[in-house]
Amino acid sequence: MNKYYEKLKNCLDALRQKTDFVPEIGLILGSGLGDFANRIDREAEVSYDELPGFPVSTVPGHEGKFVFGYIENVKVVVMQGRVHYYEGYDIKDVVMPARLMAMMGAKVLFVTNAAGGINKNFNAGDMMLIKDHIMCFFPNPLVGENIDELGTRFPDMSHGYDEELRDIVKKTAAELNIKIQEGVYVQLSGPSFETPAEIKMLGIMGADAVGMSTACEVVAANHAGMKVVGISCISNLAAGISPNPLTHAEVQETADRVAPLFRELVKKSIINIGKTLK
Ligand code: HPA
Repeated sequence: MNKYYEKLKNCLDALRQKTDFVPEIGLILGSGLGDFANRIDREAEVSYDELPGFPVSTVPGHEGKFVFGYIENVKVVVMQGRVHYYEGYDIKDVVMPARLMAMMGAKVLFVTNAAGGINKNFNAGDMMLIKDHIMCFFPNPLVGENIDELGTRFPDMSHGYDEELRDIVKKTAAELNIKIQEGVYVQLSGPSFETPAEIKMLGIMGADAVGMSTACEVVAANHAGMKVVGISCISNLAAGISPNPLTHAEVQETADRVAPLFRELVKKSIINIGKTLK
């Protein structure tokens, strides 16, 4: 068996020793949304360090565990804390959690992140439904021997962010009176923020928001047959658009400020998506 797939199977076995909970939806939380996991009806939790070979985050504020439970009657697994490529992990390890969620049985992956706004109509604090992504400046996590047990060698990415699920989030935002933008997310490696020239280039190429996560996990999730939906919190205007130097503190501050609204949107969207899975 492929060594990497063996590692995934070992993680799944270790996880199954702790819980037999089968989630319908997997949720990956970005900066500022970490405490969402404390608000679900918790059934079980498993620390990443209990899973052999599983990547553990080094970023302050990113806790490391899977939390299993219910949002109303929807079964979810929440990834509290994610690892980033810029921490030095192999790209294959970065996408292990998304793959493991698929192997646990989750049919939908819900991703959230903080991102810099490139689109001139965006403001810090806006939410952006991810319509599509650009990941071609970043290593593809599927490079190497294909894991046939998970998916096909050449997965289609023309519906990487499921249209039906996007519609549900848009309707949910309207019900909650939350304004939501829609746009294309570009993933770069970081950890330095972009230069103004890079942001200008990315804007010309069609990107509306930029960040250091998510797209690679979305590719892995699509490969494994999951439907994906994602929302970015525009935590700052990107370099050159903002007159101020960018800092992680600003990103965190905006994400914290928007968190209550963001949480509400994610929670209600999950409830509404859950209805379509029954
Ligand atoms: N650039 C890259 N990643 C980010 C940004 C940004 O401006 N804001 C939050 N994550």
